[in-house]
Amino acid sequence: MSDLILGIETSCDETAVAVVADGRYILAEAVASQVQLHAPYGGVYPELASRQHMRDIVPLIRRALADSQTDWQQLEAIAVTYGPGLPGALLVGVNVAKGLALATGLPLIGVSHLEGHLYSNWLRPGCVLTPAETQARPVGAGIPGSASGEEPLPEDPAFPHLALIVSGGHTELVHVRGHGAVTVLGSTLDDAAGEAFDKAARLLGLGYPGGPAIEQAARAGDASRLELPVAVTDSPFDFSFSGLKTALARAVASGVYDLADLAAAFQSAVVRALTAGIRRALNAYPAAELHLAGGVSANGALRRAVQDLGVPVRCPPLAYCTDNGAMTAAAGYWARRRGRQSALDLDVVSNLTFPD
Ligand code: KG4
Ligand code: ZN
Repeated sequence: MSDLILGIETSCDETAVAVVADGRYILAEAVASQVQLHAPYGGVYPELASRQHMRDIVPLIRRALADSQTDWQQLEAIAVTYGPGLPGALLVGVNVAKGLALATGLPLIGVSHLEGHLYSNWLRPGCVLTPAETQARPVGAGIPGSASGEEPLPEDPAFPHLALIVSGGHTELVHVRGHGAVTVLGSTLDDAAGEAFDKAARLLGLGYPGGPAIEQAARAGDASRLELPVAVTDSPFDFSFSGLKTALARAVASGVYDLADLAAAFQSAVVRALTAGIRRALNAYPAAELHLAGGVSANGALRRAVQDLGVPVRCPPLAYCTDNGAMTAAAGYWARRRGRQSALDLDVVSNLTFPD
């Protein structure tokens, strides 16, 4: 029997729901992005985000359940992100999940958005199963519907590994020794990496979200025309991007450089800062693999730069770098196996890191 978990994610500007089997196989998912809604503000407008989550969440849950041909009796649990994130946005998902848990009697599992991003590397989006197949599949069997009918399952990630979670709200370098055994080695002292991309894009007059816009503009640029500084922090595993932003603002104001070169130089400096921190951590901690996760892990320059660090690299498929419900369901699956269950007085924790 497989474990079917409904995952609900509303921590920022994506309302996302998924039904996931065994913490790996995505039966169905439904996402409503608020990017267009927030674009005129150049960042997420919290009040608008909460209100849009309110409108979207129930129809999305209905759709994900219908698409997965799953009914409430077949689910094992409801996993929901309860932090970190925007409090008002988190409240929408948590309250809906609590209402559903109360009505159905299903266990509620609060998960951290950061553990969610970590579990995006455990998903196997290519392996599509029907609910009947997942119910019938004995543990350890191959993938039904694969070319041979019984292809061996791809390997789960190996422990210990090093993971870099880089998103609009976070830049966390973590050492993962096992499920629920996560040590934060370092984080950003000021802007998150994605936030730095978003602010830089604003300075350059590019759109929101800034990361993809800068990556696109940088393609036509030459990073070697301008070297922007990489901050040195007291801890070798911390990051700082505010000086870089100031240096970019000065370079823009000088009027000397063209847009593509500025974008390329900025992206190159962020990538250098991140890879330098990763390299130092790989020298200090045992790691069988390196995992990238979060919106900024969609960045091609970053993905290329980590290929030659001497350790196998896992990055989620592009659609699972940014916020999604499947990663929340996957994190809920592994947390439930460790015995985590949340009470119905679960509250949001806007600065949550990694619960046990
Ligand atoms: O993980 P995510 O969807 O939401 C948060 O939890 O914050 O990450 C969104 C962030 C935004 O700051 C966006 O600019 C950045 O990820 N991002 C990128 C790229 N795609 C998204 N940054 C750099 N390069 C990209 N291709
Ligand atoms: Zn995120």
